[in-house]
Amino acid sequence: MSISPEEYAEALAQLAWQVELGADEAIGAVPVNRFEEKAKPKAPPESAAVPEPVAAPPASPPPDTAAIAAACDTLDELRAAIEAFDGCELKRGARNTVFCDGNPQAHVMVVGEAPGRDEDREGRPFIGRSGQLLDRMLAAIGLDRMAEDPAQAVYITNVLPWRPPQNRDPLPEEKTLMKPFLLRHIELAEPKVLLMVGNPSNQTLLDTSQGVTRLRGKWHEVLGIPALSIFHPAYLLRAPEKKRDAWADLLMLKAKLENG
Ligand code: URA
Repeated sequence: MSISPEEYAEALAQLAWQVELGADEAIGAVPVNRFEEKAKPKAPPESAAVPEPVAAPPASPPPDTAAIAAACDTLDELRAAIEAFDGCELKRGARNTVFCDGNPQAHVMVVGEAPGRDEDREGRPFIGRSGQLLDRMLAAIGLDRMAEDPAQAVYITNVLPWRPPQNRDPLPEEKTLMKPFLLRHIELAEPKVLLMVGNPSNQTLLDTSQGVTRLRGKWHEVLGIPALSIFHPAYLLRAPEKKRDAWADLLMLKAKLENG
């Protein structure tokens, strides 16, 4: 179908208008053709025999992400495997796969929740408003994701590499599906300490339904690595009175890095 330059300009102006109103993303995984005539189901004749119910086909088993992850021997291989993985619906609505940022040699590895809008656009974790607060929090104890020295650097990833539509919370089945990739990511990065940021990260890595309020303030262990819980910076932006707790947690992290 071809359209005239005028129609094109009109369509473009309408699109710009919608973006201005805030309708700037597709929220369905599958496009809906609203011009398609819906065939109305015909009512069966009264005399028609009632068909036998047909058994639903067995649901296909979920992809074996543990096997895919285990086959990766380097961070580059893992990134490639995740980028090639088509078993998670979130990927279809995402612009980028957000794998990591920072220094892979860093002693500290930060695990967040999932990319937001800015991260999805740029393909890097924690670069929006909450990421900027995270950077300031880490800077307060002398850490910097861009540092070359592993002792001062930070390596960052998320539980999910794709943005959930409208930044909704990750679903339990999404976290379960992607968890083997996350665990392999941690194994390959070999951090000395893990910082689990926000509830989804804590709950996924610690296999618990408890929230950060309960989990923070003490050391846990993930794959044999000391792991600390901390409030998500997005939460701290909404609840600044919790920054005092977050500061105490950062001091625990600093002491661990200095004294082991
Ligand atoms: N929140 C997260 O948990 N991760 C990001 O990358 C950005 C925001």
